[in-house]
Amino acid sequence: MAEHWFISGANKGIGHGLATLLAARGDDVTASVRSEEARARLQEDVARHRARFSILLFDQRDEAAIRAAARELIEPLDVLVCNAGAYGPQRQSTLDMDFAGALDLFDANALGPLRLVQAFLPALLRADNPRIALMSSGLGSMATEGATNIAYRAAKAALNKIAQGLAHDLKRERVTVVALNPGWVRTDMGGKNADLTIEESAVGLIETIDALTIDDTGRFIDYRGRDVSW
Ligand SMILES: NC(=O)c1ccc[n+]([C@@H]2O[C@H](COP(=O)([O-])OP(=O)(O)OC[C@H]3O[C@@H](n4cnc5c(N)ncnc54)[C@H](OP(=O)(O)O)[C@@H]3O)[C@@H](O)[C@H]2O)c1
Repeated sequence: MAEHWFISGANKGIGHGLATLLAARGDDVTASVRSEEARARLQEDVARHRARFSILLFDQRDEAAIRAAARELIEPLDVLVCNAGAYGPQRQSTLDMDFAGALDLFDANALGPLRLVQAFLPALLRADNPRIALMSSGLGSMATEGATNIAYRAAKAALNKIAQGLAHDLKRERVTVVALNPGWVRTDMGGKNADLTIEESAVGLIETIDALTIDDTGRFIDYRGRDVSW
């Protein structure tokens, strides 16, 4: 049965893969992008599919814009995928940090998804099996050593903690919340040498999210549905 999905950051990369695959199989999709140009290109990409597809415009650092966009969404929302994220400033090592850039990255990557959850929660609460998937990264895991791009890693670690907190606070409402690791994917962010195509990751993520129930809440899982160490 068709479900209603929301995908943030759907103009390119993993978000584009998720949104176009879902539209192709006939789900209802609401997607977000940041510019009119991106909206027009995405609309063209999905035009051949019959699915209901709407596109909202906002930057996830802008709470007022997100709340205004969420008010446009009246139908129940089955799945919220907070996918959008950035890699952050050039200088982001522990010993040489662009602090303003790092703060901006935290705002986008850790707090942005939480703004989306708060704004879209009323629509999720109208669904039968509401699921929230926060796009994390293996680099945010405490079990992953290495310090390259430490602002990105720390922002994803913060997002993981937010995922855990949301899972705790929304359990009584029977909203499932998970953090996701999409694998290392060949996108602008992942680069050309990454392991997976966008389609391989997106197909796995959709299968994984399709299967989620409240019993999965609070898990950190990868695109194959396997547990990832926090
Ligand atoms: N690729 C990988 O190997 C990999 C691995 C682990 C985790 N991830 C995570 O997976 C997600 C998608 O990554 P990707 O590889 O598909 O990256 P991507 O190709 O660079 O796409 C990132 C998307 O996020 C949007 N975005 C960035 N900052 C935003 C903001 N402040 N507000 C709203 N949208 C914003 C971008 O919009 P614009 O085009 O307008 O900038 C774009 O749509 C990210 O959260 C990333 O951290 C990726």
